[in-house]
Parts: sequence; C-alpha cells; structure tokens
Amino acid sequence: MVAVDGPSGSGKSTVSRRLATALDARYLDTGAMYRAVTWGVIRAGVPLSDPAAVAAVVAGLSLEIGTDPSAPFVRVDGVSVDGPIRGAEVTAHVSAVASVAAVRQQLVAQQRAIIADAGRIVVEGRDIGTVVAPDASLKVYLTASAEARAQRRSLENAADVAATQADLARRDKIDSSRAVDPLTQAEDAVVLDTTAMGIDEAVARLRELLDTRVTA
Ligand code: DC
Repeated sequence: MVAVDGPSGSGKSTVSRRLATALDARYLDTGAMYRAVTWGVIRAGVPLSDPAAVAAVVAGLSLEIGTDPSAPFVRVDGVSVDGPIRGAEVTAHVSAVASVAAVRQQLVAQQRAIIADAGRIVVEGRDIGTVVAPDASLKVYLTASAEARAQRRSLENAADVAATQADLARRDKIDSSRAVDPLTQAEDAVVLDTTAMGIDEAVARLRELLDTRVTA
C-alpha cells in the first residue's frame, strides 16, 4: 500500500492515479470523501459552524466511492456527486467539515475498511501516512512551491492565480493547524518536490522508490 500525502496543487491526485494505473493497483481519493460529505452537509442546510450538527448529518449519509483508477466515482445517498464536489461551494467549506473530529473518525474507519479489502492500493490525502495507514509500505509527501500549486489549480479551474493562491493558503492553514489529524509529514515519508517536475517524472520517481525501498 502506498500513502501519498501533501497540500492541494502538489500534483497528488494526478500522480497517485497514474501510479495506481501503472501498478495495476486500486486508487482511493480520500479528499473526494471529505468533499462528498461536505456536499451532503450543505444539502442538509445545517450550519457549518455547528460541529455536532455537521457530525449528525454525516453519520446519516451513505457514502460510496470507487477505487478503479480508470473510473473514479463518488455517490452520496445514491446520488452521483463527482461534478458538484469540485465546485466552488464545496471547495470553500470542505476544510471546516474535515476539521470535525467525529467526521474524521467515521471517514478514517471507512478508508481503513476499503484499504483492508483492496490488496494493492494507492491512497492519497492529508493524514494517510500518519493516521489512516501508518504501516504503509511506502509513504510519500508530495509538495511544490505555493506559486506552482496556485498556477496548477488556476489552470484547472480557469481562475485567477492570485485569488487561487490566497484560497490555497487559507485552506492549507486550516488543514495544517486543525486539532485533529492535521496535514503533517510522516517522519518516514519520502519528500518529493514537484515544483519543477512533470507528472511523468514524478510517477517514474515513485516507481523507482517502490522498486528500491519496498521489499514486502
Ligand atoms: O485533496 P482535496 O483538495 O480534494 O481535499 C479536500 C479537503 O479535504 C482538504 O481541504 C483537506 C481535506 N482532507 C483531509 O482533511 N484529510 C484527507 N485525508 C483528505 C482531504
């Protein structure tokens, strides 16, 4: 099992998915799970500032997520939410929902169950190497400069680079400073800075690491 953690725009999603395909492994995007339950909380109309109300809504949701890297999908109560979870509204609120301890407990349990069933799998997120799967055979911390990350995200979303950089900084701050399972680098993670690296190079580098470091 490979754990890939890091901030938004580090190339995590593209690299993890491509790596999973190359290894003929499963792929789990845990950020999509936090985004999907955030969509459910917004739909329920409860105040996002009320952790107990947020946790109660999330506890009642049925969350399904695909692990085929060539056909990712996520459903909440049977509704496909692949489009809406990438929208501005969910993106603006996901850090708040992901800060609620009971929400994390629930999603971490679901993630561990998926990993246990999957065999070979590449899992990406913020707390995979530290909390969800501390015994991963390879832990990678992907990062890139704030400018490079903002540039990539603004290209994806056709948004202004400066505004995107400000939004990423805001989310990084919440994700890294929250009390429960903040984004931190595992002590035994390999750090890969993708600022000046293409996707192919990053995937190749990880395959090399797997070949040399993973014996089991
Ligand atoms: O990777 P992403 O941008 O899709 O993640 C969306 C949000 O979910 C991000 O703000 C942090 C949160 N998240 C988390 O707290 N823990 C994870 N394992 C994955 C994502």
